[in-house]
Amino acid sequence: MASQDNPDGTARADGLGAGALAPDVAGGLSADPAFGLEPALAAEDVNAWFGSHHVLKNVNMSAKPRSVTALIGPSGSGKSTLIRCFNRMHEEIRGARLTGKVMFGGGDMYAPSIDPVEVRRRIGMVFQRPTPFPTMSVIENTVAGLRLGSRMGKGEMQARGEEALRRAGLWDEVKDRLGHPGGGLSGGQQQRLCIARAIAVQPEILLMDEPASALDPGSTARIEELIEKIKTEYTVIIVTHNMQQATRVADDTVFMLDGEIVEAGSTEKIFNEPSDKRTSDYVSGRFG
Ligand SMILES: Nc1ncnc2c1ncn2[C@@H]1O[C@H](COP(=O)(O)OP(=O)(O)OP(=O)(O)O)[C@@H](O)[C@H]1O
Ligand SMILES: [Mg+2]
Repeated sequence: MASQDNPDGTARADGLGAGALAPDVAGGLSADPAFGLEPALAAEDVNAWFGSHHVLKNVNMSAKPRSVTALIGPSGSGKSTLIRCFNRMHEEIRGARLTGKVMFGGGDMYAPSIDPVEVRRRIGMVFQRPTPFPTMSVIENTVAGLRLGSRMGKGEMQARGEEALRRAGLWDEVKDRLGHPGGGLSGGQQQRLCIARAIAVQPEILLMDEPASALDPGSTARIEELIEKIKTEYTVIIVTHNMQQATRVADDTVFMLDGEIVEAGSTEKIFNEPSDKRTSDYVSGRFG
């Protein structure tokens, strides 16, 4: 494949170039049959601890570009821990430790030369409970991530914020109160505000940890529609306890138990013809 510079014209020496994440752009004419199937993100032998508690054990999994991968498994199986390892948030927890590699954009995001802040800019995260800055206005919340270390002018920032709100399916509901506090929105609106904030910085991967578990069915449906839409541009990895949700939104599903991956594959296969009895017991609701 031809070498590819970043869209901003700068070549990267750290192995985190954008080429592997934009297969259509980088090599639409490539004759390599494997090309385009390169994962957007891949965990290789990831082990993680909280103090002496070994919570992730030899995890290997990958997420395909521009698709949705669901992480499922009972409470305490390590889903949130794993997803936090995918944007270098795990190491921010006191006493937390990790070994192994997480491949992203052609390099290991844990290589010594990689800046975790840059990783977090390129791999966004949305949490279970909406976390807007309550006193900041709706538009300030949306552009909060753009302000950090950016020299973007006010007009451009406003435009990026509006675009993110549109894409998060929130624009019509907030366009007349962009200056009102983010904390004044409903729970479902706040969660879409957080998604807008995450996509405003134009990440390459969006991690979502049970983004709809605190929401009513209407707001949940909106979030799912939004995931459908954004996966045309981004890679989405979503943790969910809701089996129907996994079957609705995910192309691939990974089943975790006690910090290990029991089985991973197409959502179709995991739910309809799983290979492991523990998977079939879990997806049919026999435990967890
Ligand atoms: N900050 C922490 N400090 C210590 N132990 C933790 C911490 N966070 C999680 N753990 C432990 O790590 C293990 C995995 O937890 P994790 O939160 O990843 O599970 P989960 O699959 O996301 O569960 P749930 O479905 O309940 O959200 C559990 O045993 C949990 O008690
Ligand atoms: Mg969790």
